[in-house]
Amino acid sequence: MSYPFQIKSPDEYNKAYKQSIDDPEAFWAAVAETFLWKKKWDKVLAWNFREPDVKWFINGKLNITENCIDRHLISSGDKPAIIWEPNDPKEESRTLTYSELHYSVNQFAHVLRNNGVKKGDRVCIYMGMIPELPIAMLACARIGAIHSVIFGGFSAQSISDRLQDAGAECIITCDGAYRGGKDIPLKNVIDDALVTCPFVKKVIVYTRTHTPVSMTKGRDVWWGDEIKKVEEMRYAEIPAEEMDAEDPLFILYTSGSTGKPKGVVHTSGGYMVYTTYSFVNVFQYQPGDVHFCTADIGWITGHTYIVYSVLCAGGTSLMYEGLPTWPDAGRFWDIVDKYKVNILYTAPTAIRSLMAYGLEPLKGKDLSSLKVLGTVGEPINEEAWQWYDEHIGKKKCPIVDTWWQTENGGILISNMAGITPSKPSYATLPLPGIQPALMDEHGKEIEGNDVSGNLCIKFPWPSMIRTTYGDHERCRVNYFASYPDMYFTGDGCYRDSNGNYRITGRVDDVLNVSGHRIGTAEVENAINMHTGVIESAVVGYPHDVKGQGIYAFVIFDNVHEDVELSRKDIMQTVSRVIGPIAKPDKIQFVNGLPKTRSGKIMRRILRKIAEGEMSSLGDTSTLLDPGVVDEIVKGKI
Ligand code: WT7
Repeated sequence: MSYPFQIKSPDEYNKAYKQSIDDPEAFWAAVAETFLWKKKWDKVLAWNFREPDVKWFINGKLNITENCIDRHLISSGDKPAIIWEPNDPKEESRTLTYSELHYSVNQFAHVLRNNGVKKGDRVCIYMGMIPELPIAMLACARIGAIHSVIFGGFSAQSISDRLQDAGAECIITCDGAYRGGKDIPLKNVIDDALVTCPFVKKVIVYTRTHTPVSMTKGRDVWWGDEIKKVEEMRYAEIPAEEMDAEDPLFILYTSGSTGKPKGVVHTSGGYMVYTTYSFVNVFQYQPGDVHFCTADIGWITGHTYIVYSVLCAGGTSLMYEGLPTWPDAGRFWDIVDKYKVNILYTAPTAIRSLMAYGLEPLKGKDLSSLKVLGTVGEPINEEAWQWYDEHIGKKKCPIVDTWWQTENGGILISNMAGITPSKPSYATLPLPGIQPALMDEHGKEIEGNDVSGNLCIKFPWPSMIRTTYGDHERCRVNYFASYPDMYFTGDGCYRDSNGNYRITGRVDDVLNVSGHRIGTAEVENAINMHTGVIESAVVGYPHDVKGQGIYAFVIFDNVHEDVELSRKDIMQTVSRVIGPIAKPDKIQFVNGLPKTRSGKIMRRILRKIAEGEMSSLGDTSTLLDPGVVDEIVKGKI
């Protein structure tokens, strides 16, 4: 397979960029034509950002699984599509060739049909990182069901909220999942979630950890038993459902500045075209390369750069079940050597946590197969960038710093490995097709270079968010209302004198903890559910490994004598309500919060205190009670 849309030189980049602006429809039509369509589109694009209403490849018909799997069968049926490395290095790894993946996806698509799942139904997937997870996603896509994968670290309450929002009647899960030395009881968590979701009709359970689980008659079935039924009926291929380019492919929940996570909706055609285009260009993927993205499939990075884009490109995707530091901090490097990984795509937080172990875990590791390194999820600090470059890439692998978001579907701003230059801590240049704009506080675009502003995108791209599930108005308000005719990212950004973009972090009340997005309002809601909590305010502060840590100021009327125990109680509450990823790193009990006369919490002041910048608190005279600030400063942890 060759990629006609792969850009091979800076000159080609410039030309492609220019064409993508001068004639976007021709530009994207040329990329889209390289895919398999059941019926070609009538028109490439129709859009307005006011409603918003964005449609790509109008009336085009396709099924993404034919692009991910079927079209590779003749030329590459025996080629590895997915290589799986288990959590325990002593357990055997698994490889699924394209033919095997085809077989498994078809089989499981039958299982879904047999269990009543139809086109357009929402299916929730709550599994660990095993090959059955992409098989389940692709089986949904095969029959036109909309999957919503929920990260294995979310609590029963979070799952219940998502199930209700999506109206999902079918769940695919595992008895448990292995993560490092731990064994996470996924099915138990699902059982807890389902207490409040009586509308769920089917739970399909894959056996991974052999943990005892309860199985409710009539609702819960075993994956293995269902597959046996399909085998007995000698079912073979399931015809791929014909999907409209704009039919939803999946929903993925993500946090915003309000309390409730929103279901980002991605569509079949545009998502397929843009993600594959970005994969092949940013990483400069060559047929035969082994691509190792270390993200969990529960996040957008895993959806796009473990599953859909890599398979659409006919590539080999390595997925790993466990943690970077288990059984020891050399695990990633062992995996790179074992499978001769060519492209490694990970997060700054993982790099920083591995850096902390020093160079010992790198002893005896070869790493010479590596050609390209990537990072994603948060701004990468210069020290981590240099370490990655020197000790992992041995100064011969280009590093791509890829900026994008759940709502974007794929990478929007990044250098292209070995083609356009990198610059430490800069995502650098937009991909052809992407038109960034920096906006000032009056809503005016800031032209020219060496300027900072709020990052917007002023023209649609094929894999952009179409709506937030069940609440289109929320999508409009969140992303399209701050600046007319622009998609607002929520990020602040600097453009240097050469036009390179450097993302400086969120400008809204959203935290980025270890590359995971967490809304401060969501954490506050969770804390406030604890008995005795009167009010709370959550802000971020710089954290050496996580990038940002969570700092909670809490007014609490029944602190135990043992203050530490009260802190733990609150942590436990947050863990129950959202999941362990949202647990505050620091909890400070306070008697009051800094508020304006109109009752609004002055987060700016709390942020400064959490950051330890007490000397620059700014004007506090407009506060209702300026005295609370001194007290908070004194009690800082
Ligand atoms: C937010 C999106 C989509 C990837 C995983 C995170 C931050 C992401 C970078 C980068 C600086 C980055 C932004 C963005 N971010 N990549 N290369 N440099 N910041 O997805 O949970 O949707 O979060 O992550 O703040 O808005 P997400």
